[in-house]
Amino acid sequence: MKIAIIFGTKHGSAQECALHLAEKITCKVSVYNLSKKEVPLIDDVDMVIMGSSVYAGRLNKEVLTFANNHQEKLLQKKLMLFTCNMHRGEEEEKQLRNIFPEELTRHAQELVSFGGKFDFSKLNFLEKVVIKKVAKVTTDIEDLRFDAIEALAERINAECV
Ligand SMILES: Cc1cc2nc3c(=O)[nH]c(=O)nc-3n(C[C@H](O)[C@H](O)[C@H](O)COP(=O)(O)O)c2cc1C
Repeated sequence: MKIAIIFGTKHGSAQECALHLAEKITCKVSVYNLSKKEVPLIDDVDMVIMGSSVYAGRLNKEVLTFANNHQEKLLQKKLMLFTCNMHRGEEEEKQLRNIFPEELTRHAQELVSFGGKFDFSKLNFLEKVVIKKVAKVTTDIEDLRFDAIEALAERINAECV
């Protein structure tokens, strides 16, 4: 089984998750960073894993554009979706259920959040203001769920033939 992992990121967490996942998957995997304008080749892959970080309740712009432009093709593949985000609890659940285009969410075999992080050294002035004001966070938080990434990799590996 051939797999394409396609992601968009602003400050690197979604990339960290995508690369960790790729490392743990035993089938043939290609990784594409849409934020670096990489062009995914998905014609001959069996599965697409598409991920994005979340800002102001929205997907990364390049991920949303890719999802919209390739929806028909994505609906013909095994599909898994992930986000990197800092909402937790019910808000996180709700955000996850609603953030990808509806048809893709319905089609996806898996819809998971890999957590996220606030790294103040990477945020711009405006982002720092928003985080301090809205999330009431003033120091770095690292909350990536490597256990969830590895659990997903195991489920995928069960399908690798
Ligand atoms: C300005 C700003 C807005 C954010 N908005 C949201 C949000 O609406 N929902 C959420 O769950 N996380 C939100 N986050 C948290 C990011 O999704 C989190 O930091 C993530 O790890 C960033 O991923 P990246 O490093 O791949 O860009 C926000 C972070 C910043 C800095």
